[in-house]
Amino acid sequence: SAPALKTFFAGKFKIGMAADFGTANEAGAKAVLLKHANSLTAESVMKASPIGVSAGVYNFAPADDLIAFAQANGIEVRGHALVWHQTSPSWLFDGDRTDMTAYKALVRARLETYITDVVTHFKGKVYCWDVVNEATRDDASGTYRDSEWYRLFGSDFIDYAFHAARAADPAVQLFINDYSTEDAGKRGRLMTIVQGMIDRGVPVDGVGHQMHISISYPSAAQVEAALADVEAKGLINHITEMDVSLYNDPGSCFGTPSTCLAALAPGTGAYNTALQAQALKYRELFAVFAAHASVKSVTTWGITDKSTWLNTYPVTRANWPLLFDTSANPKSALWAIVDPA
Ligand code: XIL
Repeated sequence: SAPALKTFFAGKFKIGMAADFGTANEAGAKAVLLKHANSLTAESVMKASPIGVSAGVYNFAPADDLIAFAQANGIEVRGHALVWHQTSPSWLFDGDRTDMTAYKALVRARLETYITDVVTHFKGKVYCWDVVNEATRDDASGTYRDSEWYRLFGSDFIDYAFHAARAADPAVQLFINDYSTEDAGKRGRLMTIVQGMIDRGVPVDGVGHQMHISISYPSAAQVEAALADVEAKGLINHITEMDVSLYNDPGSCFGTPSTCLAALAPGTGAYNTALQAQALKYRELFAVFAAHASVKSVTTWGITDKSTWLNTYPVTRANWPLLFDTSANPKSALWAIVDPA
């Protein structure tokens, strides 16, 4: 049988998987998680929606259940995610905008209170937090994503969030997390954000690379460059959400889902060829991760191909992006990682 990934990479980085309580406890997935992983990321239940119900009212129970499960099995937890434009509950922004100074003070206080309370609740139970997720702009027309947070506060919202998190837990590692860090342009903007944080004394420990990629992109050299840029800032690297889509979709697929490639059919030559390419991609990128001492944690976004967000994103279409198949058996990709010759 396959060696346990957490043992294979011991001394280099933690092996993580993302799941919520239901998936983590499905028979096949649970066995995979317990054998291979020593890190767990909540796929949804630690985001601000659902945790932040209303001002001062928190829905901690699903996250607490997941953490109890992890602790009972000797697995550490990555906190994900405090501030993300897609999961910032609308009550944070409620209020009268006639007096913008007063309104901004109100929203800032709500943000800081939310982070203080949540980081305090999970203190000692998570080894790091994705404090700010996806703040980088995708195109070159600016540096920051045009989110409600950025429109109100400019880059200051990032400072508020990191300072509040650090104050609530001096020991937890604090990350800024984003996707497409392998793209030199996007990464350049992220590095501009990170350098600004460093210059202002904002307490950031590392950069999270989501690593939602596909079988033909990015190259090992591109990923290597992303890791090196973070190292040059004196920060550590986490791979936070890795999956390798079997589809080489055009970039426009995400903005125009009708351009996404048609579903592959299992058993066909095209499907088998894609699975082989996926194995090689996992192999070369895990070799890059292992070659960089700055990489402290590598998480796949899911456990088995039975439950992957890519079955519904960017379109509803079967995908097989993980290391274990729908029956929780190791795929070629898993064998390729542990036999990197
Ligand atoms: C995704 C989850 O996998 C889905 O189940 C949920 O519906 C939406 O969020 N970037 C992130 C993750 O930082 O939190 C996202 O997770 C995937 C993209």
